[in-house]
Amino acid sequence: MDPHRVKPESIAAQALGWVDEKTRAVTPPIHVASTFLRDPDNQYRSGRVYARADNPAFDQAEAVLTALEQGAQAMLFASGMAAATAVFQALDPGDHVLAPKVMYWSLRNWLMNFATRWGLKVEFIDMTDPAAVQAAVRPGATKLVWIETPANPLWTVTDIAATAEIAHAAGARVAVDSTVPTPVLTRPLALGADLVMHAATKYLNGHSDLIAGALVTRQTDEFWTRLRQVRAQIGGTRGSFEAWLLLRGMRTLHLRVRAASRSAQAIAEHFNGHTDVEAVLYPGLASAPGHSVAARQMHGGFSGMLSLRVKAGPQGGEAAAIATAAHVQLWKRATSLGGTESLIEHRSSVEGAGTPAPSDLLRLSVGLEDVGDLIADLEQALVRARRGDAPATAA
Ligand SMILES: Cc1ncc(COP(=O)(O)O)c(C=O)c1O
Repeated sequence: MDPHRVKPESIAAQALGWVDEKTRAVTPPIHVASTFLRDPDNQYRSGRVYARADNPAFDQAEAVLTALEQGAQAMLFASGMAAATAVFQALDPGDHVLAPKVMYWSLRNWLMNFATRWGLKVEFIDMTDPAAVQAAVRPGATKLVWIETPANPLWTVTDIAATAEIAHAAGARVAVDSTVPTPVLTRPLALGADLVMHAATKYLNGHSDLIAGALVTRQTDEFWTRLRQVRAQIGGTRGSFEAWLLLRGMRTLHLRVRAASRSAQAIAEHFNGHTDVEAVLYPGLASAPGHSVAARQMHGGFSGMLSLRVKAGPQGGEAAAIATAAHVQLWKRATSLGGTESLIEHRSSVEGAGTPAPSDLLRLSVGLEDVGDLIADLEQALVRARRGDAPATAA
């Protein structure tokens, strides 16, 4: 299949048209070999030596993701965190890095507690404001600008093209955590980013049954070679079966992301202005601060992720939010996102000290259930929380 002649939906559905030369099978086998045969003349003509660096089980998933992101190459990692931290580990101690104040909390913790001890100068800024990026960037010293858009858990929006222009003028690379929009809704490389990162655990796989990460590069430059070394030497790789599962999950990516986005939009509109809801945070709402930028750089929807701030009851907003989550019957109380099942969580309980999440905030990952069922379940949970009903006890 020529990825330049067909639409992304066709690339994903057929995993780039893969057919096994020998058996004519239309899905790839799972290679589990950890090592590869050396030729008698001491060469490795296969190009593969050892699976920590060269696992053929990754090839097709990496090729599909490269095509969907319109990049030059992709690499799978053991997790989203392994992919993200590899980017920072490929920098040099002393390098200056800009990261958003609102971002995936575990990576923010790692940047604050590990990367800084390792010598990176990490500065957290309001990445949604190009003027703040312009003021913080240090020409020659800033080596990386990290973007997440829409960003966990407030779903703030960063203008990728404007930020990349400022970063590039200062000589910095731009990496975008595009886990939430996926290539279905946003193509960061086309907007000027140098690297795209995914927690493939989420929408790319889509079934809450594996942990994986990925990076995609716009060009195979010296930094990409360093990233390959980081992966091979630290061993941040995933198993073959997980790579195969990911490839299977990606075949339905477009259908899943579009359906989740449609439902999230309907849920956001339904609860916006609702008597029991203080605020709905979702870039698809015309009133959202990042809506106009999101409308420009997201195509076909605003993702399946949104947050509700629950109106304070007699015990306050935090108690009302926790009580609402306690009363859901269809939504699952669990962390993570991007699966077929809808998830709800009281986010500040997860993130702990230093979280930008208000204590009345519930983060919602909208899955593939009937949207009317999802709305009805949230409605009854809000009513029960307001009445102060006792939640069902765990079995
Ligand atoms: C936006 C985002 N980035 C990165 C990660 C980290 O991915 P993983 O859990 O696969 O390490 C997550 C996980 O929740 C995430 O939501």
